[in-house]
Amino acid sequence: MINGIKPLGHSLRWGMVGGGGTSQIGYIHRSAAQRDSTFTLLAGAFDIDAERGLAFGTALGVQPERCYPDYESMFAAEAAREDGIQAVSVATPNNTHFAICRAALQAGLHVVCEKPLCFTTEEADELERLSAEKNKIIGVTYGYAGHQLIHQAREMVTAGELGEIRIVNMQFAHGFHNEAVELQNPSTRWRVDPRFVGPSYVLGDLATHPLFIAETMVPDLQVKRLLCARQSFIESRAPLEDNAYVLMEFANGAVGSMWASAVNSGSMHSQKIRIVGAKASLEWWDEQPNQLRYEVQGEPVRILERGMGYLNARALEEDRISGGHAEGLFEAWSNLYRRFALAMDATDRGDTTFLRDFWYPDVHAGLAGVRWVENCVRSADAGSVWVEC
Ligand code: NAI
Repeated sequence: MINGIKPLGHSLRWGMVGGGGTSQIGYIHRSAAQRDSTFTLLAGAFDIDAERGLAFGTALGVQPERCYPDYESMFAAEAAREDGIQAVSVATPNNTHFAICRAALQAGLHVVCEKPLCFTTEEADELERLSAEKNKIIGVTYGYAGHQLIHQAREMVTAGELGEIRIVNMQFAHGFHNEAVELQNPSTRWRVDPRFVGPSYVLGDLATHPLFIAETMVPDLQVKRLLCARQSFIESRAPLEDNAYVLMEFANGAVGSMWASAVNSGSMHSQKIRIVGAKASLEWWDEQPNQLRYEVQGEPVRILERGMGYLNARALEEDRISGGHAEGLFEAWSNLYRRFALAMDATDRGDTTFLRDFWYPDVHAGLAGVRWVENCVRSADAGSVWVEC
């Protein structure tokens, strides 16, 4: 159970690129990173508008001279300080992730990057190489993967409680963009513009989340081939899709599907992952993250509740309040940031034994998501044909 005891003897000196005052996602990064005293926010290039970034950073308590107009000047100035930052989080629109991550690694920083990590497999390979060369980690904020019951599912799948895995159904299908809201909303505008998001909208923005959760629940899940069909129901979004279906075949003989949508009118998130085995199934839904459905063929449905003693040790390890009290996305992100800090510290100490079995969404997870989106686009654009992965 997490109870506030500092997991490290020190706090990592930390900065942010993006995540400014008007951003959607900046606050949850700061809240998660600072929750367990593993990171101290000391610097930032928080905003594309330097003046706004300075005003916001100082309002957060960052020294004015460490609120920078852009990431290049931040990395250079911080590297010249004895007390310069050791890690940086990247929470900017997608088209900037690759360049900022590369510059951060080159400046000797550990990185936490938003998804998608970048746009192409080549870029992801380069980041993976650079991360190894510089001995610095890249953590990817697949934030939902920090929910404890996902790890309960992983342990149950690994222990064979479901039997052989046959079917993996995934969806992330919200309704918030069923109209052209981008005409008014700047946070949505860049999401439907290929200059900012590359080759896909919902496949990269939404589907990579349940894909990573499924890969976490079923550790050896590898997509062998896939077939994707994508549509732009709001025509002005073409060639980017606001709805997509993907059929998948996995290396272990299992099959699966993904529905990603931003036009599922009336739906809040509908992010669900259903793992079907030969004996039993598990289902997890991000709108009710404290419950995991466990269905054994021929028996009544069981709802496993977060924080209860009957869960496995891994699922209880990150419990913060015990069962009954609802935990949510902020706690899930805090669990990830805590793990990012432990991985950064172990990397700095050269503790390969610790790192060998230590789970967190790492650069390989980032690469897998990028490659999957690339293959989906390749399939859809060739007329929805099967492509090898
Ligand atoms: P947003 O548009 O609401 O905010 C972007 C922020 O970055 C703004 O503060 C903007 O001024 C700043 N910015 C833009 N370019 C910059 C630059 N070159 N240097 C410094 N600051 C810059 O975007 P939002 O929704 O916060 O998304 C940011 C990233 O987070 C995206 O990659 C998105 O995919 C990801 N995201 C991830 C989620 C998750 O669950 N992991 C959920 C929502 C977003």
